[in-house]
Amino acid sequence: MMGMDEKVRKTLAELGVNDAQGVEWLFAELRKTAERERAELISRGAPDQPQRERLCKALRDRWLARKGGFLSQVDENWLKPAGKDLKPVVGRQFNELRRFTPSLEIEKLVEALPLQQEASHPTELPLGSVAPRPAPRDLTLPGLRRPLGSIHPVTRMQREIEDIFLGLGFWIEGGPEIESTYYNFDALNIPESHPSRDDWDTLYIDSKTVLRTHTSPVQIRAMEKYGAPLYIIIPGKCYRHDNPDSTHSPMFHQIEGLAIDEDITFADLKGTLDFFAKKLFGEKVRTRFQPSFFPFTEPSGEVAVSCFVCDGQGCRVCKESGWIELMGCGMVHPQVLRNGGIDPDKYSGWAFGLGVDRFAMVKYDINDIQLFFQGDVRFLEQF
Ligand code: PHE
Repeated sequence: MMGMDEKVRKTLAELGVNDAQGVEWLFAELRKTAERERAELISRGAPDQPQRERLCKALRDRWLARKGGFLSQVDENWLKPAGKDLKPVVGRQFNELRRFTPSLEIEKLVEALPLQQEASHPTELPLGSVAPRPAPRDLTLPGLRRPLGSIHPVTRMQREIEDIFLGLGFWIEGGPEIESTYYNFDALNIPESHPSRDDWDTLYIDSKTVLRTHTSPVQIRAMEKYGAPLYIIIPGKCYRHDNPDSTHSPMFHQIEGLAIDEDITFADLKGTLDFFAKKLFGEKVRTRFQPSFFPFTEPSGEVAVSCFVCDGQGCRVCKESGWIELMGCGMVHPQVLRNGGIDPDKYSGWAFGLGVDRFAMVKYDINDIQLFFQGDVRFLEQF
């Protein structure tokens, strides 16, 4: 990483700083460096008066020397050559920095720098004597501003969905992102010839190991581990051989739902998902189930919810259709139960799989999935 000495010698353009936010960060870093160097000096102390003066002068010169001090270099290299649009920000930041720098003047430093720091910690004090005070803190110094983080929108969406199912008595299960082809495909009834197993769709580690393409393999792992009855949701990262664009990402997030018990029917699936949609999008939404196909559920369905923005009238969010596609689902295939070690004559179950990123995009009205993964604070701090 480039040190401050080096940064103040470059222009903003050379540092790649080209907007107001970048300028603010750079100055924040500069100010933090000044505060840290000052605090370090003071906490070390000085053994005697000449040494104290020497140390204070060195720090003062480093920052405030007319020739070659950090501040004059900032003036010379950041402020003066700054373009018209950035100059006001740089000027403002520079002035703010200058309000701090009097605390780097020699007299101020000398005043704050304790003599004999090392020797001032005797372990045993004679009775009745007064313990030496710690170095006085300068309470007039401006405080350190620490920017607060926030919950990532995908995590926030995931937790909201988890909460609804936790309230219904489901628990949260996890599984590996690097998965065997057995769990990712075979155990889920996905035949060798299925197109999703192709190199063009799936990221292979080797011929028997993949980056899981969905959270469904954890269905089998959980059945093996716990048996029936089973009520779980499985959040996690999944991977597909997709080029990134506004609706695709090679890494994305799913939540799988799985309920296995005696006498579980499609009516349970419909009731649960309808309840879920109403909790998440509001009481007035309706759900729609259409037939579909997945090798690991039979029958299979696609679930859509009436648009929570326009109430089904047609708008930008639902692309004028009145409906928003939510997930795939179905009754767990008897062979899949068997593969998980559960007797399909005694137990039945339902499952669903939904895309968390897509949910977050719909709910927060975001039109580009890439925004979630670029780490741009200007996007993230809106949540
Ligand atoms: N695993 C399916 C997918 O990724 C979704 C799904 C899960 C469908 C469970 C049905 C049941 O597309």
